[in-house]
Amino acid sequence: MHPCRADTHAPHSTVTETPVITTSGLTKVYRSRGREITALDGVDLHVREGEVYGVIGQSGAGKSSLIRCVNLLERPTSGTVTVDGQDLTALAGRGPRAGRELRAARSRIGMVFQHFNLLSSRTVQDNVELPLEILGMSGKERSRKALELLDLVGLSDKAKAYPAQLSGGQKQRVGIARALAGDPKVLLSDEATSALDPQTTRSILQLLRDLNRRLGLTVLLITHEMDVVKTVCDSAALMERGRIAESGTVAELLATPGSRLASALFPVSGEASGEDRTVVDVTFHGDAATRPVVSELARTYNIDISILGAAMDTVGGRQVGRMRIELPGRYEDNVVPIGFLREQGLQIDVPGQEPALVKEGAE
Ligand SMILES: Nc1ncnc2c1ncn2[C@@H]1O[C@H](COP(=O)(O)OP(=O)(O)OP(=O)(O)O)[C@@H](O)[C@H]1O
Ligand SMILES: [Mg+2]
Repeated sequence: MHPCRADTHAPHSTVTETPVITTSGLTKVYRSRGREITALDGVDLHVREGEVYGVIGQSGAGKSSLIRCVNLLERPTSGTVTVDGQDLTALAGRGPRAGRELRAARSRIGMVFQHFNLLSSRTVQDNVELPLEILGMSGKERSRKALELLDLVGLSDKAKAYPAQLSGGQKQRVGIARALAGDPKVLLSDEATSALDPQTTRSILQLLRDLNRRLGLTVLLITHEMDVVKTVCDSAALMERGRIAESGTVAELLATPGSRLASALFPVSGEASGEDRTVVDVTFHGDAATRPVVSELARTYNIDISILGAAMDTVGGRQVGRMRIELPGRYEDNVVPIGFLREQGLQIDVPGQEPALVKEGAE
């Protein structure tokens, strides 16, 4: 069993129901060397104000395309992108005035990159000042703002250093300070931690979470790692072949029978010991996590239950447990005990017997 891990962030969420990033029917088709590649195939994304929203998916699923379309670094083929109430797709390519509005809207979207994208010839402070220069801010004001941002990311003492003199984690802190220069409402992050070691990854995630809480910043982040989702995200989406296969708050996903994101967040393994056995995955939330449900089941039906695997964790301040148990007899023989478990308010999945509600690449 996994050791029960302490929660690493404040439980107080400032998420509101106001949508901050919305994409509707977002499609991106790349044309390269006579071939068409559909990277996004009708993506409807809803990110609420103040939340940290994680997008996960395999390589090539379309995650970077999605984030690049959200800030119009990439022109969507069709569909709309609305950020903070402004339809960015309507502004793209509609003359100089709309172009100015688009640039202004973009300055309210911060972007953090995997490989930091710092200018090696400029000091840390000058890197952070760069977007402020572009915004036309005076030298004195720029300097004040840059030092304030460096303080916010814990790098006050490195203002005069050059990127080559920094560790990976410090470089990413500079990248984050620079992304915050335009006082963005939204921060987009494409694999910001995948070039970093696990400990540095944790400190950068903690920083993103802190900024989210302290500044009310909405964060849309892409990651390969489920641990990232577990540690910092309020909501998550699973992308597959240009589509969103599953999405919701982490709590909703955990309560969705057959959710592959939930299983990936809390993997339990263990094989049935024979053909005439039924494997059942039980997910416990809140109070149910502390009730002796399995022993009650064994007593009530006088059956021997084996625990094949279990995992416990804390998500958004809530205790969640998953357990894989084995009941004697085939599925048909266990309909009543399985019903008993469901009546206890537990989420029950029977791998291989009851089809997942959320199907792969659902139409
Ligand atoms: N500029 C481009 N021109 C042509 N095809 C592209 C371009 N950018 C991405 N693609 C293709 O679009 C699909 C989605 O790519 P994307 O980079 O969005 O995936 P991803 O989920 O970010 O993958 P990874 O996890 O590897 O970063 C892939 O098939 C990719 O080859
Ligand atoms: Mg990518």
